[in-house]
Amino acid sequence: MLLSYIQFKPIFGDIRKNLAAITKLLAPVKTDLVVLPELCTTGYLFSNKREIRALAEPLPDGETARFFIELSRQKNTHIIAGIAERDGNVFYNSAVITGPEGYIGTYRKVHLYAEEKKWFKPGNKGFDVYKIKSARVGVMICFDWIFPESARTLALKGADIIAHPSNLVLPWCQSAMRVRSIENRIFTVTANRIGRETRGGKSLKFTGKSQMTGMRGEILAQSGNSQSEIKTVSINPQKARNKSLNSFNDLFEDRRTKLYM
Ligand code: ACM
Repeated sequence: MLLSYIQFKPIFGDIRKNLAAITKLLAPVKTDLVVLPELCTTGYLFSNKREIRALAEPLPDGETARFFIELSRQKNTHIIAGIAERDGNVFYNSAVITGPEGYIGTYRKVHLYAEEKKWFKPGNKGFDVYKIKSARVGVMICFDWIFPESARTLALKGADIIAHPSNLVLPWCQSAMRVRSIENRIFTVTANRIGRETRGGKSLKFTGKSQMTGMRGEILAQSGNSQSEIKTVSINPQKARNKSLNSFNDLFEDRRTKLYM
């Protein structure tokens, strides 16, 4: 299975330009699944409710989701893209999952970071796993990484791969995701953005270094902190179904759930 991420610098508020940048990066590449950054079509640093109202869209019927559905069909691929979702008067920091046959699902970010709490409601649908080609793919967004329960829940639900759209600002996530791979024996794809956003008297620098990790925490692909690019690796997702470390230890069977909080 061919697995990809796109790293780039979204322009705040310019959905059309951001979709064009994504389409251009994806154009020359053949892949089965491409993961895009968090809020990759709107930008991140909202400064008031008016902006979120203007930029968030319903899923799956909004224009941006329909664009990704069509891009999936044209490229015969699956896309997992971070998007600002509007559900009536409520907003979620979401990811839409699309494939060649259309809309597959929506994940709503469970653990909101910092001022995201001013614009978004925390996800109310939990963590889900989707069948994509021969793989089972779980989705979490950015700051979900700091709660190991997110990746563990997805792995226990059968995820072979965790797709992780991100807009990272803290420096530890890339290392932590290697550990999420090791402790769950799964693949991970962290699609991060690059660049700085300065808006409403605030400024954030995003860390890039998007990466894919294998079941032993090894780096399968990694970017620097400033290039716009797409990277692709070939993996066998079924390997992630074997949780055995040695003849004595199985990562899931050895869990002592009665002793945990
Ligand atoms: C983050 O969750 N975007 C830091």
